[in-house]
Amino acid sequence: MAGEYLTRDYYRRTSPAETWNALRTNAVLTDLTDTAIWDLVARIWEQNTTPEKLREGERLYQANCAACHGETGRGDGVMASALAGDSLTEFGHGTTSPADFGNEVRMLGASPALLQGKILRGGMGTGMPYFGPIFMEDQTWALVDYLWTFQFDRGASVGKAERSAERSQGSRFRSEGAEVGGR
Ligand code: HEC
Repeated sequence: MAGEYLTRDYYRRTSPAETWNALRTNAVLTDLTDTAIWDLVARIWEQNTTPEKLREGERLYQANCAACHGETGRGDGVMASALAGDSLTEFGHGTTSPADFGNEVRMLGASPALLQGKILRGGMGTGMPYFGPIFMEDQTWALVDYLWTFQFDRGASVGKAERSAERSQGSRFRSEGAEVGGR
């Protein structure tokens, strides 16, 4: 498989859904099930982060984001109700509920670059603060990497049976010399 999928630049500007579509239409991968293609998407994410970055992202998230987005990313932090439904709060009118990072349609359709832009610039009145002046660039990427754990961890519990049925196929794929895999 072409190494382009593994470059940092590709990872940052492409949403998981776009990557999935690109892999799904790749002639080399026609043998793989849809679930196995999602596994590859998750692995591309894994290869573009490290356990250290994820730990850093988690630490920053729990300290700065969980109050609104919730400890498990479901958009249900202690401050969430104050923001919901355009309530009149210290944040002003026009606020909305914090994003639910477990929402597959939203998250899998978003590129890391888009999420990072939101963290840097905030929601301009929605209640999402801007963190641009607060974090170093590395820290914003660590946060973005961590946000994907709310998707790809959940994904791991989906389709387990299918997954194990596909395992032999998966290892064949790896042994064919693809750069993806081989953690
Ligand atoms: C004071 C509450 C609050 C805090 C704290 C907060 N957010 Fe948000 N966030 C929101 C709200 C409300 C939205 C939805 C409105 C919007 O997108 O502007 C949101 C949206 C987002 C989005 C956009 C998601 C999408 O699908 O478009 C990202 C990414 C995000 N937040 C990341 C973070 C990160 C990372 C932190 C911590 C560094 C953080 N937020 C802290 C309230 C908050």
